[in-house]
Amino acid sequence: MKVGTMQIREIISTKWGSIDNFLQEEPQCAPDINEIVSRELNLYRAKLLREKFNQRLKKAGLNQLKNRQQPYSSKTIIRDGYMSIKNAFEPETHRRIQFEILEYLMTKNKDDLKWEYRDQNSTCDEVKGTHFWNLNPVVNNIIREKVRSIIESEIQLNKMEALGVSACMHIHHENDRDSLYHMDNFGAPTVKWFYFPFGCQDGDEGFTYCRNSNIINSYNEEYIRCISPYSQKKGLQKRIDPSDVSEIGKDVITFNQENSLVIADTSGFHARARAKSGTLRVTIQGGLDSRVLAIG
Ligand SMILES: [Fe+2]
Repeated sequence: MKVGTMQIREIISTKWGSIDNFLQEEPQCAPDINEIVSRELNLYRAKLLREKFNQRLKKAGLNQLKNRQQPYSSKTIIRDGYMSIKNAFEPETHRRIQFEILEYLMTKNKDDLKWEYRDQNSTCDEVKGTHFWNLNPVVNNIIREKVRSIIESEIQLNKMEALGVSACMHIHHENDRDSLYHMDNFGAPTVKWFYFPFGCQDGDEGFTYCRNSNIINSYNEEYIRCISPYSQKKGLQKRIDPSDVSEIGKDVITFNQENSLVIADTSGFHARARAKSGTLRVTIQGGLDSRVLAIG
């Protein structure tokens, strides 16, 4: 039997309503399996490493109890995603750090400091840690020793794990990418610490963290899928403007007090608080090599 145009029209219009609808129909693409797998893989990685990290924190908590150490704070990191220690260093140590930094800053002006930026054209804007630290082995040793001993008790550091100091000074500028909320390490736990020798000036709120955002929920799951490093799609590194932070739906906590130390799992949503452009923030900060956390 010869199939004529009329018959085809009839078949199509029975199935699709009318031929006009059929012609306007978008071609149906098969789901991109690789993309789905890439996203789910990242979520799986994040969940697995979070579980391992929590086990590690619990172990640290048990050790603290056993050694009758106070305060028992590892559970705070599990619950809130951070812990903060006021008056972290003894007055003498605190003053020594302040003195060394002030002496260093006295010899500099803003332009000198700009030469020490990691990359003047990028959004990186911290004065190189190494530059300052090489000049200040005294402060370098104090910080490494003190911060290490605190983190050792809270996170259960292994001897092999390195405690890095990444930066110490930051000049605020517009379009600071790190002032948008984000997760580090593609959503898997990572430990960062921030010490404020002078506190923050000019209404600068310092480091900000969305409480509990280290805990997996459906919003976080979707976010972690979207930041998958296995994905072939570019531009998935979504960052959230502080004015839209209600999207995350958590309390925003700020840390900016003089002589305070905050230790945070930055797989929770966090950001550098925005502050007046051109102002200087002195923050000694660093972290653990997050790959090591996976061994846990
Ligand atoms: Fe970050």
